[in-house]
Amino acid sequence: MVRGDVADKRMVGAERAGGAADVVAHPPASWGLAARGALVEAGGPALSVADLDERSEVWTDAAPKLYAQAAAGQWDPATAVDWDAAVDLPDDVELAVVQVMTYLIENEQAALMVPARFLGRIHPHFREVVQFLATQVADEARHVEVFTRRATLHGSTPGVSGAGGRASLQTLVDEPDWATASFLLSVLGEGTFLSLLAFLERCAPDPVTRQIARLALQDEARHVAFALGHLGETLDAEPRRRDRLRAAVERRHDVLASTSGLAAAVHDSLVVLAAGSWDPHAIAAGWRAVQALQADMDEGRRRRLVRLGFSEQAAAELSALHTRNFM
Ligand SMILES: [Fe+2]
Ligand SMILES: [Fe+2]
Repeated sequence: MVRGDVADKRMVGAERAGGAADVVAHPPASWGLAARGALVEAGGPALSVADLDERSEVWTDAAPKLYAQAAAGQWDPATAVDWDAAVDLPDDVELAVVQVMTYLIENEQAALMVPARFLGRIHPHFREVVQFLATQVADEARHVEVFTRRATLHGSTPGVSGAGGRASLQTLVDEPDWATASFLLSVLGEGTFLSLLAFLERCAPDPVTRQIARLALQDEARHVAFALGHLGETLDAEPRRRDRLRAAVERRHDVLASTSGLAAAVHDSLVVLAAGSWDPHAIAAGWRAVQALQADMDEGRRRRLVRLGFSEQAAAELSALHTRNFM
């Protein structure tokens, strides 16, 4: 066989699928599953499912680096957590931890489902984005595992799943637009969870809860960074998209206005968890810690919204409309 791309007769009409390191603006469906940079023989099937095929919709130059960090950062729930460090807490405090875990699990399940729904629709030319989202889904699977394991560590049954919280999560799962879903879930929701997980790492009454919060926090920081990256590129290409994102937050707020938002059981459990006991002074301190947490969440949301090009005022307004369920 003679060397060269078109030397082989079968390769007449073949086309390069970009370059190995050359991400194009609009890869055609005819490149199908071919490796980026491959010489694609004509006549194969066109990819039918990858409708997220615009570079400005999905890509960020940070994707290769974030994927590499994610691959290196995968941890084993069996060994990364010192489960033997479990300590017996007072029953009321253990109950509060179990309630918070119960709440976290349903939020993690939504956070798994949303990227999983879009993952298979992204053109494989944007390989590192697909790879990154695969690690994100795997991260959430581990989060579900460790929070479940902590909830049942001392033989408790899971706590309450509030209808308002699930209504809030359902709006994420039902969101059909990729940019909007990524904005609501990863910028606003997971961004808010960075504060929550840091709070749990700092304030939880037992070492296992602190460890799993720290591990989840590291993963969530990547998820937020990826969303800020690709949405930044989308908004650079199409600044008016901000209006649609803003409208989505307002719409979600209106839909959820009649629901309770964060279940009282979850709020009270966060207070008890931070208090570490039912001593009135400890409860007062726990309550102040949860107030400070909510202020920190708001500050973080506003900072990320400003980074995406929203004005300070719009950022404050949108942050205030964010779901009371946090995610
Ligand atoms: Fe998570
Ligand atoms: Fe996440």
